Amino acid sequence: MSFVFVSRFLTLLLLLLSSVFSLHCLAKCHIDDETGLLAFKSGITQDPSGILSSWKSGTECCKWSGISCLDGFGTRVTRISLYGQVENPKGFLSGTISPSLSKIRYLIDLQLQNLRNITGTFPIFLYNLPDLSTIYIENSQLSGPLPDDIGKLFRLYALSVSGNRFTGSIPSSISQLTHLSQLKLDGNFFTGQIPDGIRQLKNLTYLNLEKNQFSGKIPDFFTSFSELRALTLSYNKLTGELPPTLSALAPQLGSLEISHNLLTGKIPDYFGNFQRLDTLDLSSNQLTGTVPISFKNLTKIFNLNLRRNRLVDPFPELNVRGIESLDLSYNKFNLGTIPKWVATSPIIYSLKLSGCGLKFRLEDFEPTQTYFYDFIDLSDNQISGSPVGLLNQTTLLKGFWASGNQLRFNMSNILIPKSLKNLVLARNQVFGKVPQSISGLKKVDLSHNHLCGQLPVTKFPVQAFLGNDCLCGSPLSPCKK
Ligand SMILES: *[C@@H]1O[C@H](CO)[C@@H](O)[C@H](O)[C@H]1NC(C)=O
Ligand SMILES: *[C@@H]1O[C@H](CO)[C@@H](O)[C@H](O)[C@H]1NC(C)=O
Ligand SMILES: *[C@@H]1O[C@H](CO)[C@@H](O)[C@H](O)[C@H]1NC(C)=O
Ligand SMILES: *[C@@H]1O[C@H](CO)[C@@H](O)[C@H](O)[C@H]1NC(C)=O
Ligand SMILES: *[C@@H]1O[C@H](CO)[C@@H](O)[C@H](O)[C@H]1NC(C)=O
Repeated sequence: MSFVFVSRFLTLLLLLLSSVFSLHCLAKCHIDDETGLLAFKSGITQDPSGILSSWKSGTECCKWSGISCLDGFGTRVTRISLYGQVENPKGFLSGTISPSLSKIRYLIDLQLQNLRNITGTFPIFLYNLPDLSTIYIENSQLSGPLPDDIGKLFRLYALSVSGNRFTGSIPSSISQLTHLSQLKLDGNFFTGQIPDGIRQLKNLTYLNLEKNQFSGKIPDFFTSFSELRALTLSYNKLTGELPPTLSALAPQLGSLEISHNLLTGKIPDYFGNFQRLDTLDLSSNQLTGTVPISFKNLTKIFNLNLRRNRLVDPFPELNVRGIESLDLSYNKFNLGTIPKWVATSPIIYSLKLSGCGLKFRLEDFEPTQTYFYDFIDLSDNQISGSPVGLLNQTTLLKGFWASGNQLRFNMSNILIPKSLKNLVLARNQVFGKVPQSISGLKKVDLSHNHLCGQLPVTKFPVQAFLGNDCLCGSPLSPCKK
């Protein structure tokens, strides 16, 4: 039995005994819990949407919003879960986390999510809570470094400080948090190397370090993690090659995201063994060479993003049962046509093949399904013909980008899908008049074509229409009578 389990079991037993032997009314909040919670509330200086409005002295604290007590064993608070409302500008809390929270002796879960304006440093008083097993303090303003002795939280099962303002390097004592299944440090300002001590966290199923400023190489320590399902290291300053031991994650890894770093070298052959991989994002690095033939083996891949590297032909023919999103844009590919395995995918919703050396008539692209498409980006290729037929079939399309091609069609004939928000056709050979139907779109760019005639009334800026043959009317100059 794991330590966490044993300690939770003992907690249950203690609570049971105390509820049997104590005479105080079950419905009454334990004085320590009430004191701790009200102290937390008094550390909050602004609560414009009333997140804590039910927290009132003398009332049953187990019924306060965001508070849970252990079921069936009376009145000790075991869980605090407060959520800011992301859509509501007033759904936040300002203030600090009161150290009196450590009075809530039986606390197991602390979740302070999207509260947005909680300040202060890492709450080290949580060290005093012997049963605490999860800490999620996400999307607030906590700052300063993580404490050097963070290893004292060795009982934790999950630790997340995503989306705060923490700085400094990760303390080496992180290696003591060996029960951790989830570690999320993403969206802060952490610097330095990814600490080698993370190799001790052998039970990790989820590791997210993205959107920080980690530098140096990715440690070659992946033989440690036999449970890891998702690894996210995107948006850092990591250098060097993809480490060899990453291949040890092959049997179970479902998602690997290391985009927006400075990785060099080739994509290793070992990816062919990642039988469970559904998401692979290596975009915006400096990877070179070909995509390994072993990618044929990635039959489960749904999301593949290799955008903005320096990869060259030939691109392997994949055996995917269905890709959902694919982005190969801006490498050194000369794909010629849209690969068959892409065109035949039954569930694709996002296809991005900009700057991929595509050279075909758009009428010849006949995808097996057109129903799921949300986004098609074919910018900066040498595609000719007309998108009229494609747009007429993709009834749920939200964005179509095809700037910088050789499309040649009469704009008057275009049928705009109801769902369309973005239509970007700059730098083609589009002619005819601009139809009134574009006025419902969010973003339009028809600049540098051969359009003519009076513009319909729209809210689009002049840049959307510049460089055409004889367009007139607002926002361009008035038409001559
Ligand atoms: C966030 O909290 C700080 C300090 O508590 C306060 O000065 C500031 O007004 C708060 N910001 C918002 C958006 O309420
Ligand atoms: C790791 O997880 C396994 C299975 O859930 C559990 O038996 C083991 O005790 C855990 N190890 C640690 C250090 O928490
Ligand atoms: C494909 O996967 C199988 C295991 O399923 C493995 O034996 C084989 O080597 C892989 N092929 C490539 C090209 O990686
Ligand atoms: C648009 O689609 C409808 C039915 O799917 C078809 O009848 C019509 O001819 C198409 N129009 C164009 C311009 O492709
Ligand atoms: C574009 O199509 C419209 C309607 O079918 C037609 O009236 C117009 O003459 C065409 N414009 C050009 C330049 O071919």
